[in-house]
Amino acid sequence: MNEQSRIIPNNLEAFWMPFSANRQFKQAPRMFVAAKDMHYTTADGRQVLDGTAGLWCVNAGHCRPKITEAIQAQAAELDYAPAFQMGHPKAFELASRLTTIAPAGLDHVFFTNSGSESVETALKIALAYHRAKGDGARFRLIGRERGYHGVNFGGISVGGIVGNRKMFGTLLTGVDHMRHTHDPERNGYSRGATEYGAELADDLLRIATLHDPSTIAAVIVEPVAGSTGVLPPPQGYLKRLREICDQHGILLIFDEVITGYGRMGTAFAADYFGVTPDIMITAKGLTNGVIPMGAVFVKDTIYEAFMSGPEHMIEFAHGYTYSGNPIAAAAGLATLETYREEGLFERAKALEPIWADAIHSLKGTRHVIDIRTIGLIGAIELEPLAGEPTKRAFSAFVRAFEDGLLIRTTGDIIALSPPLMISEAQIGEIVETLKPILDGLD
Ligand SMILES: Cc1ncc(COP(=O)(O)O)c(C=O)c1O
Repeated sequence: MNEQSRIIPNNLEAFWMPFSANRQFKQAPRMFVAAKDMHYTTADGRQVLDGTAGLWCVNAGHCRPKITEAIQAQAAELDYAPAFQMGHPKAFELASRLTTIAPAGLDHVFFTNSGSESVETALKIALAYHRAKGDGARFRLIGRERGYHGVNFGGISVGGIVGNRKMFGTLLTGVDHMRHTHDPERNGYSRGATEYGAELADDLLRIATLHDPSTIAAVIVEPVAGSTGVLPPPQGYLKRLREICDQHGILLIFDEVITGYGRMGTAFAADYFGVTPDIMITAKGLTNGVIPMGAVFVKDTIYEAFMSGPEHMIEFAHGYTYSGNPIAAAAGLATLETYREEGLFERAKALEPIWADAIHSLKGTRHVIDIRTIGLIGAIELEPLAGEPTKRAFSAFVRAFEDGLLIRTTGDIIALSPPLMISEAQIGEIVETLKPILDGLD
């Protein structure tokens, strides 16, 4: 490790940190300076087990050689190529490779730089698709309470997290929200898809009836809601959404930013649940989090609807300077190779029951009021401190960091999503580290 990187900068003020308690952090900074496989190294030289794959993105583990080498080689060979009206081979190769692991029918890929941009891209494709077909009256977008779809205006409009919306004015018009599916009274301590609540999909019918189905362009959901505390869908819920969408000509969009690339023990959650959306949003694990990149998959019929008109004309007025960036594409190809060579998706599948047993063994621990697991994802919900929501879980986060474990908290929920290379012993370590922390919390 470069010795320079161990030095903590003495001015922390200039950097306005995203989604962070800036003042609190800057009083007691938590800095990582290196990483390898399952561990981070802190500025004071401690090892921290990564229980969250960074931010749900480092699915193959840290600083994996193939990915590092691919990025280095690409940076030295072709650093950048214009994304509009020009191309380079690796973007095409990556798109083709991606379609081979995507659910059948999702045959075209639009590249972006993040989950949020993938969300905006998907919503725009949905609206423009209907218009391209001469069905421009379909302008409504339906999201869901407790949904998280990134931070841009489309995403926060269809999203259902009040704190992410309330500061930003009127948002997009023509948006409505289905009820969320979280029902801890009936589905407490769940493993996999929950037992009760498939009927909540019919909330889409209620909304469709209210507005008339012919005005609805698309419905967007996370197959497993992540950022609002890991909410697995009820059994049959996604299938029912698919049926309703098919009946009424509504596009179904899955936001797989968290669930994609092996997190569920399958390539995508669409495979896990056996439901194929019309548009699938991905990012994060696409490049192992190493270089920003997102990919939106669409069905052939959607792509083809745009391929009309004079051939010299741009078919879809949308794209980013860095769409399909050469270094990101190289990282994506090397990441897919790493997943395949090491059988990481299969590994996650084999670990799912072991993971579930381990996390559920925390049932009965002090403050724990619910536990949910699915794929290699886990949530431990804590009773909030009276009058001070989020504080108890945040204390757990700080103590876990001090004790050598990275967890993530959202509200009073601890969310876990380790790299797929995690060993059984390390799964045990997560639980053994957390238990005394929870026991010792106020
Ligand atoms: C489901 C979902 N969609 C979109 C996003 C936004 O991704 P990004 O932070 O890369 O913009 C996230 C990020 O966690 C997410 O979980």
